[in-house]
Amino acid sequence: MTDATQAGADRPRTVLVTGGGRGIGLGVVQQFLSEGCRVAVIEKDLERADPGFADLVAQDHRLWAMSGDLNSPADREAFVSGAQERFGRIDVLVNNAGVAPRVRRDLLEVDEESWDFVLGTNLKANFFLTQQVARVMTDQDIVDGVRGYIVNYGSLNSYVIATDRVEYAVSKAGVAMLTRTFARRLAPDRVYVYEVRPGVIDTPMTQVVHEKYTRMIEKEDAFPIARWGQPSDVALAISGLVGGAFLYSTGEVINVDGGFHLRKL
Ligand SMILES: NC(=O)c1ccc[n+]([C@@H]2O[C@H](COP(=O)([O-])OP(=O)(O)OC[C@H]3O[C@@H](n4cnc5c(N)ncnc54)[C@H](O)[C@@H]3O)[C@@H](O)[C@H]2O)c1
Repeated sequence: MTDATQAGADRPRTVLVTGGGRGIGLGVVQQFLSEGCRVAVIEKDLERADPGFADLVAQDHRLWAMSGDLNSPADREAFVSGAQERFGRIDVLVNNAGVAPRVRRDLLEVDEESWDFVLGTNLKANFFLTQQVARVMTDQDIVDGVRGYIVNYGSLNSYVIATDRVEYAVSKAGVAMLTRTFARRLAPDRVYVYEVRPGVIDTPMTQVVHEKYTRMIEKEDAFPIARWGQPSDVALAISGLVGGAFLYSTGEVINVDGGFHLRKL
């Protein structure tokens, strides 16, 4: 590790996005490409990715996409080393990929397969990919005061109880502690770690509950900013977090939830 501070002017940044083939992840990919960054994506399910993603991969040489499963240590390794080989330095890791339970079940009916599926992706893979990238970042030079940024995803379910998807809520509550712990450990290295906490965002993940959430938005006054969130809402928040404006802040949570967390009686 060297302490040299390099000038960062005009150097395209490299951003790693997990699960960037659709939904919020695709919004993040589009945002960073529009800012002139180079983007690397690992995506488990390229067949169910948004058609627009394949177009981007075909058209934009700054985007590299790898088919792979974050639950596989070999795939995680191939993703990080592949991005390094192509682009060199890793400036930002966006731990976007996440899964909901395949079936929503009451707490008393949840089985071990669902528990392992959800916590495996949302918490374990998140932890070990972050660990791997943090090792790379802490070895990089400081550029514009920063060695790297890591962004994790929480959820309303980081703090709202859901008896029909406890495994999801526990995984997202766990992500909050991952964020705080990595932030504390990596602050002296100038690697900044943040959590975005999306509300209800219009993506393939939320299609199964679209009617329920539309009702909550339109009739039940749960969201002070009364509309569905869009992937671009989350992408813009992440862009702001890693843009150099918060260099005396780490471990912070930014709610991207239409004000849902502002509860009133
Ligand atoms: N949509 C919402 O309302 C909402 C709210 C709060 C938090 N979130 C979080 O935002 C993130 C993105 O959600 P989304 O709504 O865009 O979901 P999505 O299901 O639409 O997209 C998730 C992407 O991650 C990929 N993925 C999943 N597991 C993977 C693995 N093991 N390896 C590689 N890729 C994998 C999927 O193939 C998919 O392309 C998730 O972490 C989710 O928990 C979403």
